[in-house]
Amino acid sequence: MTRPDRSCPGHVPEQEALFGSGAADYDRYRPGVPTAAVQLLADALRSRPNPVLLDLGTGTGQVPDALLAAELGLAHIEAVDVSRLMLDQARDALTPVLGHCTLRLVHAAADAYTPLAGDEARAPDLVTCCRSFHWMDRPAVLAMADRVAAPDAAVAIMGDGSLWTHDADWTRALRELIQRYLGSERRAGTGATYCEPRRSYEEDLAASAWSDVTEHHFPVERAWAPKDVIGYLRSTSFASPELFGERHTAFEAEARTLLDAHASGGHLTEHAVFTVLLARRGGGAQ
Ligand SMILES: C[S@@+](CC[C@H](N)C(=O)[O-])C[C@H]1O[C@@H](n2cnc3c(N)ncnc32)[C@H](O)[C@@H]1O
Repeated sequence: MTRPDRSCPGHVPEQEALFGSGAADYDRYRPGVPTAAVQLLADALRSRPNPVLLDLGTGTGQVPDALLAAELGLAHIEAVDVSRLMLDQARDALTPVLGHCTLRLVHAAADAYTPLAGDEARAPDLVTCCRSFHWMDRPAVLAMADRVAAPDAAVAIMGDGSLWTHDADWTRALRELIQRYLGSERRAGTGATYCEPRRSYEEDLAASAWSDVTEHHFPVERAWAPKDVIGYLRSTSFASPELFGERHTAFEAEARTLLDAHASGGHLTEHAVFTVLLARRGGGAQ
């Protein structure tokens, strides 16, 4: 799973539009970070007093939200995203649960992130990138993390694929329906399709300062109500409403019929694997 479906580093202006319009649906319908993965990240931070988190491609703030709930005594969070609408959504989600932790929302591409001048004391102890690394200039992001992170920090690259990549009867049928409307290539917003990845995340890490990597796989079973799959699709880059134009209502009606037909007991099951690559600086970084 750690090989991205495809990636197009450098498509940052398009990405702002790509993700912004689905922010509310994203917040509502995207599954959170599994408890076991949160535990792994919490353990990586446990011994540190007042840890600082840098979350790249924060979206609606799911990673900060999960780590705040783990009560690690987080002192500060830097949450970075190219989408202002996502950051607005993250602010709304995180503000009520921050407690004593401070939050800075940074509207930037991850590789262009810079800490505030004079903020060196807040060098991140953990840099996270969840379901977002494939959208980024990955070598540049890892180099940036090496510049800004604390000496003994960790980087966590995480994700669990999508309903496009998931392999089950119902997701295959759904993918075929989307392809009937939008063409066989997986779309990445209105103006693009995914490009082939040049290398896996493991290879990206091995070629970076973060070459000391452990890999963790957490199986997750999710029960989806058909209406929630429809909501999820609206938040994706491969089936957002703009892609269908005036045919979106027809698509959603067909998708709903298809999902209802595949549902058992009112639910569709997804067997996902949430993978975390937990990396630390290696001795022989290039
Ligand atoms: C699929 S969402 C993941 C959000 C969140 N990390 C989560 O797991 O729920 C991908 C996010 O990455 C952001 N993004 C895409 N390219 C980016 C880049 N180059 N730099 C920073 N954020 C980016 C998008 O705007 C979007 O909010």
